[in-house]
Amino acid sequence: MSERSETAEELRTARLWLRRPTEADIDVILGVHSDPETCVHNPSDALTRHEEAEQLYRRWDKQWQQYGYGYWVVGRHDDARPLGFCGIKPMELHGQQVLNLFYRFAGSAWGQGFAGEAATAVTTWAAAQVPDIPLIARVRPANVASQRVAHRAGLSRARHLDTEGYDGFDWIYVAQPERWAP
Ligand SMILES: CC(C)(COP(=O)(O)OP(=O)(O)OC[C@H]1O[C@@H](n2cnc3c(N)ncnc32)[C@H](O)[C@@H]1OP(=O)(O)O)[C@@H](O)C(=O)NCCC(=O)NCCS
Repeated sequence: MSERSETAEELRTARLWLRRPTEADIDVILGVHSDPETCVHNPSDALTRHEEAEQLYRRWDKQWQQYGYGYWVVGRHDDARPLGFCGIKPMELHGQQVLNLFYRFAGSAWGQGFAGEAATAVTTWAAAQVPDIPLIARVRPANVASQRVAHRAGLSRARHLDTEGYDGFDWIYVAQPERWAP
């Protein structure tokens, strides 16, 4: 587990760095999650107070400690400022353990392919490092940008797995359709 944690803490893509969050990222966590635009489709994720962002950071950090992976902070190689977040969280889907793929970027970073690039890196990393747990994404039906990001990361729609989520009905995307035969 410790070996996995060391290698997981920093990933690189053509344009992006991904790193484990630190306490110094709490303000960025609040900034991204308090912009109403970033939580339109997932209002249960919206934050308004610093204390809430601190609690969310603690949950993210606890998962990193427990599993050796989690949500990464994402930014450009030539800029230390974070653009957003992308990562995986263990959860259950229809009674099976899965890794849920997450991405949320500041509105100013949208439309430049960053989320697709980060989600591809995370999906590739999970396939290599956590191959036993299937990776999925839960996307609200109207969230077309998120659906495109899931496709770009190699996931495909699995209608038979669609289910109620925290904010209403979710469409389910899976990385390995063969593991989820209807
Ligand atoms: C979803 C989100 C991460 C996409 O970020 P992004 O950096 O703009 O995504 P990308 O630039 O990588 O675009 C990926 C694809 O989505 C498309 N796309 C982006 N915004 C779109 C929009 N508003 N409507 C339709 N398609 C859109 C892009 O054209 C691209 O398509 P392609 O793969 O066919 O070229 C961003 O919109 C976001 O943070 N949203 C709020 C949080 C959220 O909804 N997270 C997902 C929860 S399930």
